[in-house]
Amino acid sequence: MPGNEEEPSVRVLISEDEITARMKELAFEISSDYEGKDLLLVCVLKGSMVFFADLARKITIPLRFDYICVSSYGDGSESGGAHELRTDLNESVSGRHVLLVEDIVDTGLTMEYLFGLLSSRGAASLDVVALLDKPARRKWEVDIAYRGFEIPDEFVVGYGLDYRQQYRNLPYIGALESSSPLG
Ligand code: PRP
Repeated sequence: MPGNEEEPSVRVLISEDEITARMKELAFEISSDYEGKDLLLVCVLKGSMVFFADLARKITIPLRFDYICVSSYGDGSESGGAHELRTDLNESVSGRHVLLVEDIVDTGLTMEYLFGLLSSRGAASLDVVALLDKPARRKWEVDIAYRGFEIPDEFVVGYGLDYRQQYRNLPYIGALESSSPLG
């Protein structure tokens, strides 16, 4: 961390083993529900890339990958509410069953934006699998079809999630603790 700020510490909230076990259950459900359907698995960059890569390899039915990048938080810890589409899908969603893969649903505003963007493109279905659900800060009600863990209102990092673009490579979900306000 630059300057004189004290470096935050990280407390393990969800271990690597817990993530793996829950992810296997989610992948089993998804494989069963989408059997025989044209599944397009969409990684919501960039926080979801770790979850996406691990989850996709546990799903046992044929599927295609695509990626979309939306910015909401900038480099800080608070959701700004405004969204910017940085990278759109390459694939057409028309007639396909689209499953968005998210690391976390927090305020729900990213999902509001993505559902608004994609729902008019003719997908056969549009749903979301989220590793983490933090309902305490919800501003838009998201119907999360597949939920990994519900978490308390703490700032979480690791397994793809960042604080100022750091910590994404931690193999577990950690709660960031600091004596000074995070931001
Ligand atoms: C994070 C996360 C979700 C979104 C959830 O992305 O990956 O996409 O915030 O927050 P919300 O429910 O309050 O909208 P972020 O914009 O931090 O970008 P990143 O994926 O590149 O880390």
